[in-house]
Amino acid sequence: MTIDLEDLGLDAGGYLIVQRALRDLPIGSRLAVHGRDPALRVHLAVWSREQGHGIDLSGPAPTVVKGSATTARWSRARRAGDPGPDGTLPHADVRWGLAMRGALVEEGGPPLHADLIDRGVVWAEAAQQLYQHGAARQWNPDTAVRWDAPFALPSEIEGAVVQVMTYLVENEYAAMQIPAGFIARMHPHYREVMQVLAIQVADEARHVEVFTRRAMLRSSEMGVSGAGGRASLQTLLDETDFSLAAFLLSVLGEGSFLDLLEFITRHAPDPVTREVAGLALRDERRHVAFGMAHLKYAADADRALLGRLRTAVERRHDALADTAGLNQDVFDSLVVLAAHAWTPESLRSGWNAVQALQKAMNEGRQRRLVQLGFPSDEAVELSALHTRNFM
Ligand SMILES: [Fe+2]
Ligand SMILES: [Fe+2]
Repeated sequence: MTIDLEDLGLDAGGYLIVQRALRDLPIGSRLAVHGRDPALRVHLAVWSREQGHGIDLSGPAPTVVKGSATTARWSRARRAGDPGPDGTLPHADVRWGLAMRGALVEEGGPPLHADLIDRGVVWAEAAQQLYQHGAARQWNPDTAVRWDAPFALPSEIEGAVVQVMTYLVENEYAAMQIPAGFIARMHPHYREVMQVLAIQVADEARHVEVFTRRAMLRSSEMGVSGAGGRASLQTLLDETDFSLAAFLLSVLGEGSFLDLLEFITRHAPDPVTREVAGLALRDERRHVAFGMAHLKYAADADRALLGRLRTAVERRHDALADTAGLNQDVFDSLVVLAAHAWTPESLRSGWNAVQALQKAMNEGRQRRLVQLGFPSDEAVELSALHTRNFM
């Protein structure tokens, strides 16, 4: 068989024509390559050797002798599942590396440094849907909040808002770092889960921004950061098991934060505080939904999971037994934030609102625990063991 590259150099795309001509030829076939490029003979000899073909330079036109190396190379390749959302396999091979799901993966290449490689350990049936939902609902912190909305607060009320924002920001840092750490450990074969977590990290980055901006809006002095609250967050950062972290952070922590953000939205003394809390609340509902969806999937795959979740709550409670939990300043600031004024009547109503908040958080946790399959008496017990820091 003969082909003519005319004046096209092998190094300028001519190899594609040679490759295409060789594709359907049987091993051992000869392909004479004509052309006017002065470097054709040299380039073809090098290319043929690289591709595992023979080269015969004795005739008037250099001739490629199709070798078996390329065929063997792809005959040992494996399909990495199927590309669609139903194409995941129960176990992802680290030797696939970063290959796209469904790709024909050539042997060799470095193995991926991932340890979250089993579907039962990371998956949620709703992952694709939650990712798309999150991607479509990203908001711009600069324009979504009316930063210049007029308001004037007494300095103690403004101070309470700043204290609550100071507390929120450190919790948002934890919520940002934890999924980021799991992305780095996850096999991209389960890409929908990685995408959900990536959107979640971006959500938390915006929460950090808007809470920081609200804190600094009228004040140059930030609130306090209690050691007990940070100890509580550290136990979340230290949790290396994906399902246990999803449970402690997303179901119990972010679940409690749904009520907290709703409380701030409802009782905010100014429009900026109301808006930033409301925007974060929208995102947090999705984070809780993913945690629930994952744990339902994982509990179906592994009946022993509920027992491990229970142990995780108890262990965390014991680890935090000697710490204060929620900083008193944060608690007081929530009362003052909801009171709006420094009168006995206003403080009574702020106090009652915080009591109602804690009741709502407790009921929300119990409801989610029951949804995951815990009997209601156990749900009551576990909810009570949840950290006093809320997150
Ligand atoms: Fe958040
Ligand atoms: Fe979150």
